[in-house]
Amino acid sequence: MIDYKSSSYCDAYSRVNALVIVGEALADRHFRSLARLIPEDEEHLLMLAAMEGRHTVDFSSCGRNLGVKPSMATGKSLFAALERLFRALENSRDVVGCLVLQGLIIECFAVAAYRAYLPVADPYARAITVAVIDDETKHLNYAECWLQAMGEQIHSQIVHICEKALPLTLSILKAMKSDLHAIGIDCTDLLAFFCEDFTQALLSVGIPLADAQRLLIKTAAVEH
Ligand SMILES: [Fe+2]
Ligand SMILES: [Fe+2]
Repeated sequence: MIDYKSSSYCDAYSRVNALVIVGEALADRHFRSLARLIPEDEEHLLMLAAMEGRHTVDFSSCGRNLGVKPSMATGKSLFAALERLFRALENSRDVVGCLVLQGLIIECFAVAAYRAYLPVADPYARAITVAVIDDETKHLNYAECWLQAMGEQIHSQIVHICEKALPLTLSILKAMKSDLHAIGIDCTDLLAFFCEDFTQALLSVGIPLADAQRLLIKTAAVEH
């Protein structure tokens, strides 16, 4: 039984909650950037951005509900490297790179983290998390469809951006390991969910299974 009011739970939750709030706020910004980069889907992408904005509000209310103040500086510093990479891709108008980073990698990471959180969440946060997972799956589906339609010509570009972004993403998990553990999240489950969903996402855009597996194994090898 988890004591959601204990000081150790609340202390760890202040950093985990901040990470989630910062991640959702960045997703909102990223989909607005994508709306400018893909004008033919502008309306749809702005709708996805608005969903991310609502997630920011909803997860902020989860912290408030527990009486926890999110440690925003921690959240921002953890996402800094991924955000720098997104901005660099955006500045060079690399639409594929931006969509792989936000639409595949960050969305898969969010889905995996929320799936791992679900069984240990307090009842208030659980209801919100269920609805958010459904939304993130839609965001992932948008990116998969767009990238799949581009065909084989972008495969090496997808692999290249994954090689850069996957280590940055998994380093967030590593830095948060003890806080995640303190709120009852099993990091091995989270990583397994991520590998499952991300492999599936790569397969759906046409990357061969052997290449998808090699990417994840290479990242894991760098991390250890
Ligand atoms: Fe979200
Ligand atoms: Fe999302």
